[in-house]
Amino acid sequence: MASAAAWVTGMAAQLAITVPGQAQPPADPSADPGAKKAFIDDLISRMTVDEKVGQLRLISIGPEMPIAQLEDEIAAGRIGASFNTVVRRDNRPLQEAAVKRSRLKIPLFFAYDIVHGHRTAFPIPLGLASSFDMAAIERMARVSALEACADGVDMTFAPMVDIGHDPRWGRVSEGFGEDPYLASECARASVHGFQGSGVNRPDTIMAAVKHFALYGAVEGGRDYNTVDMSPLRMHQVYLPPYRAAIDAGAGGVMVALNSINGVPATANTWLLQDLLRKQWGFRGITISDHGAITELMKHGVARDAREAAKLAIKAGIDLSMADKVYLAELPGLVASGEITMAELDARVREVLGVKYDLGLFADPFLRMGSPADDPVDDKADNRLHRRPAREVARETIVLLGNRNRTLPLKKAGTILLTGPLAESGLDILGSWSAQAVAKLAVTLRAGIETAVEGKARVLTARGCNITDNPKVVDYLNYLNWDTPEVVQDPRAPEVMIAEAVELAAQADVVIAAVGETRGMSHESSSRVDIDLPGSQRALLKALKATGKPLVVVLMNGRPLAIDWEKDNADALLETWYTGTEGGNAIADVLFGDHNPSAKLPISFPRSVGQIPIYYNHLRIGRPLTEGKPGNYTSQYFEEQNGPLYPFGFGLSYSRFSLSSLKLSASRISYGQSLTAEATLTNEGPYEGANVVQLYISESYASVARPVKELKGFQKVTLKPGESRVVRFEIGEEQLKFVNAELREVVESGQFSVQLGLDSHEVLEQSFELAEALEHADQNQKSPG
Ligand code: BGC
Repeated sequence: MASAAAWVTGMAAQLAITVPGQAQPPADPSADPGAKKAFIDDLISRMTVDEKVGQLRLISIGPEMPIAQLEDEIAAGRIGASFNTVVRRDNRPLQEAAVKRSRLKIPLFFAYDIVHGHRTAFPIPLGLASSFDMAAIERMARVSALEACADGVDMTFAPMVDIGHDPRWGRVSEGFGEDPYLASECARASVHGFQGSGVNRPDTIMAAVKHFALYGAVEGGRDYNTVDMSPLRMHQVYLPPYRAAIDAGAGGVMVALNSINGVPATANTWLLQDLLRKQWGFRGITISDHGAITELMKHGVARDAREAAKLAIKAGIDLSMADKVYLAELPGLVASGEITMAELDARVREVLGVKYDLGLFADPFLRMGSPADDPVDDKADNRLHRRPAREVARETIVLLGNRNRTLPLKKAGTILLTGPLAESGLDILGSWSAQAVAKLAVTLRAGIETAVEGKARVLTARGCNITDNPKVVDYLNYLNWDTPEVVQDPRAPEVMIAEAVELAAQADVVIAAVGETRGMSHESSSRVDIDLPGSQRALLKALKATGKPLVVVLMNGRPLAIDWEKDNADALLETWYTGTEGGNAIADVLFGDHNPSAKLPISFPRSVGQIPIYYNHLRIGRPLTEGKPGNYTSQYFEEQNGPLYPFGFGLSYSRFSLSSLKLSASRISYGQSLTAEATLTNEGPYEGANVVQLYISESYASVARPVKELKGFQKVTLKPGESRVVRFEIGEEQLKFVNAELREVVESGQFSVQLGLDSHEVLEQSFELAEALEHADQNQKSPG
């Protein structure tokens, strides 16, 4: 096999024949944008229609496309990129088919869903957002990129930045929660981590942000359902995180499966052209989601496959994922003139541009390297990054309750570990765990046993199954995976509970790991009920009745309605799915080797009936007056208003106080800014971090505004007894909003500034903005 260098020479020579003087593409594509254009113009001028259409196809290896057929298709110039092939040995022959056997020798790129780690699973994104630690998120993405490159992968379908207001939707696990500011920060950190200082390097990958747009707002939380949303809410809440990822340089955008106000995103010209390209200036590649172009027929907007292809390409879908309709229909559409050559070329140009930016024309084997360097064992433990995974995971664990200082536990005495998730290496990885391997994951049991080795005795009992509902088990096993994910203990529920209760009698403390299997918080895993399944609640109740201190360790990918656990657990830890090093990270927190500092990025409802529930809701005409129910105000009469746990909430083993909020001015004019400051003090016995959160609200404006909005946060680590003044600058950026004409404005009025350690308990001061020129972003326009 020729080396990469030899291929490059061959490519340059070939180009030299057709375009005299054509140079090899520069290693740094940003160095000379003119060169990129000339290179791509030349290539396009030499492509047949079939070759152009081939570049728009993104194919997953699978039963419908065996490897030999895939290679032939690539050699025939009928495939532009591949996803789900993730080891060098699989990718290399595909790339060779492209660069040696195809007529124009255009390289492929390889993509994959690297959402929270590639070989090493980091915590799921909802957990990552809980860290409020952007350096931790960037680190996750950086490590993921290194591991992906080592496998020859060039692009990830991440970050997933869909705002989630509805925990029934299983995919809230993949996003960064309910808040546009926090999600935007997380989006930026992810893109920086994946893409590093440029995507043409052997150790960086391109980020394709998804799912554009508004997928998190599917009606009723039912996956793939429609989205109907006011333009105001779109611009104010749902669109900012995509924009943040794009502004951070994300090279790709994956288009959502849902429709938006009646027009499927895949056929939505307003979304993909007016907003994305014209207003936001996006210059990268758009990718349809899996089979989404064909689904335009099911949406009922395309009569047949031909029309589906036409709608998608006209709207601006570059790459068609796992769809045959571009291949089958575009040549005919071009021949008939329904699609102009210019329209086709525009889409092809984006795909070639991304390959150029990825450095693949300069070296198609840039990331996969030479066969001599291929790992002997792709799944070897020494290919993992355990230390960063553990350090990041510890930052994502939220302490929800801790009565009588139950935690941290002593490494002494006897501990009973029970619950259906205590020994699962698979579930702790979370969904979309890429190439992470369950048997290399540290289970909670392994983490605890290592932590207390030689110091305490650990007893174990399964306690219960994840659910006693066979239909749910069947669904989960059928849904996602090659092998059954949920393996039921055949014993009767009473027998399992009795065993756990008996062992509890011998223990000083009981730790129960309960929640959801990873498949329960996944694509196509929407729930009508977000309680803990009955089998698990029954176990907890029986354990509580023993009178032993009960530590509940939750593993789940969505907010759960855990009012019973709130009232009854002696300590409650929300660990989400912590990844490959999860068991060690949770043990670090349980035994006080790490003081928890994470905060909820999404509100926890008291019951499913409160959904949608989010802290930054708009003001209304009849808000509830606390303590005055039943007076024609907005409420459910069986339930108190407000969440079980608010956005931004999370405890520490130390006691933190925030005091002395001061504003540097009580009145400013437009163009001026002011400072808000408060003193954070660690009054407790442990060193620890806390997140000071800045919320702002305007008492009146030209449109109803949220009761408060997060506009900044700082995570501060303090030693016992230490204090620090935390300052935030408040100016146009923090005060602007989108008005009824969809223009960004700052309006004069009274603003409340709130600093808190969660969104609920805050210190508050106000100031007046005396004059405000309307500051308009003329680019904002309503969806057409
Ligand atoms: C999901 C995407 C994912 C794609 C490729 C789809 O089913 O919606 O998030 O990137 O599959 O795996």
